[in-house]
Amino acid sequence: MSESPVVRLEKDGDVGVIIVNYPPVNALGPGVSEGIIESLNKANADPSIKAMVLMGDGRSFIAGADIRGFGTGRKRLAIGERTYDVMDASPKPVVAAIHGYALGGGLENAMGCHYRIAVPSAKVGLPEVLIGILPGGGGTQRLPRLAGVKTALEMITSGRHVPAPEAAKLGILDEVLPEGANLREAAVAYARKIADVRPLPRVRDKTATAEPGVFDAIRKSIARKARNQKAPYNCIAAVEASCTLPFDEGIRREAELFAELETADEAKALRYAFFAEREVAKLPDLPSVVAPADFTDPAVIGAGTMGGGIAMSFADFGYDVKIMDATQEALDRGMERIRNNYATSVKRGSLAQDEMERRLARIHPVAGYEDIADCDVIVEAVFERMDVKKPIFAKLDEVMKPGAFLFSNTSALDMDELASVTKRPEYVAGTHFFSPANVMKLLEVVRPSKASPETLLTAMAMGRRIGKISAMAGNTDGFVANRSRAPFNSEMVILLEEGCLPEQVDKVMVDFGYPMGPFAVGDLAGLDIGAEGRKRRAAANPNYRKLPIADKLVEMGRYGQKTSAGWYRYEKGDRTPHPDPEVAAIIKSVAAEMGVPQKTFTDAEILQRLLFSSVNEACRILEEGKAYRASDVDVMWLHGFGFPRYRGGLMYWADGIGVKNVYAQIASWHQQYGERWAPSKLLRELAESGTPFREAKPAPFV
Ligand code: 3HC
Repeated sequence: MSESPVVRLEKDGDVGVIIVNYPPVNALGPGVSEGIIESLNKANADPSIKAMVLMGDGRSFIAGADIRGFGTGRKRLAIGERTYDVMDASPKPVVAAIHGYALGGGLENAMGCHYRIAVPSAKVGLPEVLIGILPGGGGTQRLPRLAGVKTALEMITSGRHVPAPEAAKLGILDEVLPEGANLREAAVAYARKIADVRPLPRVRDKTATAEPGVFDAIRKSIARKARNQKAPYNCIAAVEASCTLPFDEGIRREAELFAELETADEAKALRYAFFAEREVAKLPDLPSVVAPADFTDPAVIGAGTMGGGIAMSFADFGYDVKIMDATQEALDRGMERIRNNYATSVKRGSLAQDEMERRLARIHPVAGYEDIADCDVIVEAVFERMDVKKPIFAKLDEVMKPGAFLFSNTSALDMDELASVTKRPEYVAGTHFFSPANVMKLLEVVRPSKASPETLLTAMAMGRRIGKISAMAGNTDGFVANRSRAPFNSEMVILLEEGCLPEQVDKVMVDFGYPMGPFAVGDLAGLDIGAEGRKRRAAANPNYRKLPIADKLVEMGRYGQKTSAGWYRYEKGDRTPHPDPEVAAIIKSVAAEMGVPQKTFTDAEILQRLLFSSVNEACRILEEGKAYRASDVDVMWLHGFGFPRYRGGLMYWADGIGVKNVYAQIASWHQQYGERWAPSKLLRELAESGTPFREAKPAPFV
């Protein structure tokens, strides 16, 4: 009945079924909203139709506005002519029938309908804040009216996807269908049932009221997380308008607040991050016919902090996982640590006690290799030394069933060398988790030269199944994330030699948007860990730039939080870092010994010294073909190191400064400081051609 290629109107007796078909997720791409309006108008004009259903073809209802259209000056329907306005004016009822996702503009359309029903697996939400905007299709005015101001504020400022059963409890859905019900049939029956109800229940006709202080309270509660950002505050202001203004005025206020955000740097960076996270899953040089293998039975070797965190990641996502260590004592200690970690989450209120017990019950400590021989995936997470890992891989090769994937959680070691101790190097790859492994989202999949495409795809898919963002890295010292970060780590200590203090550097980085400064992070992770890598690199490379201040602290037993002293001092049982005059004195004396001239630094200088050094190294990584895309480096920095998401990522941020400016500054530091600042070849080429970092063409992946 309908002409639109992306929306069709079908008749099911006296019910008109409007179906959106814009794969893969039914975003509101070109023509979709117009198609819905055309179908609504047709159905309203058809006397044989008594009620309508709005639903989506394929895997989703509607996933929201087409994000690619933002900031492009695309033509938008004016207020008064939008789908929601047509539904508000509709003399016949419309039922939204939801499966998959109703997000953003999807939920806004559903709230424009008179009724909402869903299958139990459906999810709804207004995630606009995550891409730096606010729900601009009436969501900030309708959700508070439908579900209350508190719920609306929580959902709109977090962007959380709410499962259908919860959404029904919150008043967002009228009904959740039983498991296995046919959505279309149920929706048509529902539409028939309510066809004659008048007046039509319109969300716009409800009122939203807020308890005093609720808006200030939420502004306060998000202040830390929303630092430097505008969208969360505009979201709150728009919801506030739902309580203080009549509906139509509230909608206009929402549009004004939306307009302030759409083309702002924050929204551009967050859109970039959204697409970078999808791009990173693509491995363009692997044969497209190969698929990842399924796995059901993972095992982790090593019950230390990392191994425990990895086992928790599996358990958190429903996998039964075996965990093994060299001694019963180590295993018991590991299980105790896992239990304590879960218990902390329960205490914080982020995990229910019974869920903790369910997760713990999925982690099975086992005594020896014979207990894991039948597992299909192994993640080795023992001490970070080749001579410790090699015998384990040799043993795994001996005992594991054919076809098992052997992954190592090394953070820097040569995966080819490790794979070479097995007779099945095609099944060996690196899976580098970031600490704490059950929290950090990045999984760096490391590609040794003999790994089969199936092994690599399986490692990538394994990460996604346990809630990680998987990113492929070449087999180079430190791989991509840590290698690109290494110069930053050196430079932050070198800055101390020249006259900075840890607290000064940390403040600059926190102001920039990091959740913690790099020195405080070092204390958290343990300073002894970095010292081990420095020793190894210094032994291998006579030109290695040593970091005497960092070495001195480790020599003194200042390992960080665990010894109550590191770059900062700590009170017993408290994690708050306090600047330590003893550290300031060490810095001064080492700098004097080295004869480094002292100077003062601006915040911008500190920031650029740290980040430009890494941009230069990332260019080297790309020019060597160790990463697919500059945007993959960005994803790794966002999810491995806490780089502020609203700045897009390291390379995206550097593009904001401009490739020519970055090059000029690095070249000048090269003159001043010598070889460690030598501009990479790719950086020079990009600067000469004026090509942004994110358009850099890396060498073929090796
Ligand atoms: N616009 C454009 N493209 C979108 C999109 C959107 N809203 N949502 C998903 N896509 C694309 C992805 O880029 C990806 O493309 P690719 O295959 O070329 O890489 C493809 O659809 C599939 O997406 P995913 O890989 O993410 O699929 P998943 O099944 O893992 O996840 C999803 C599905 C949960 C819907 C996830 O895609 C998502 O979160 N999408 C964004 C939802 C969103 O933010 N909606 C609000 C938009 S803003 C809005 O509505 C403004 C309004 O208030 C005015």
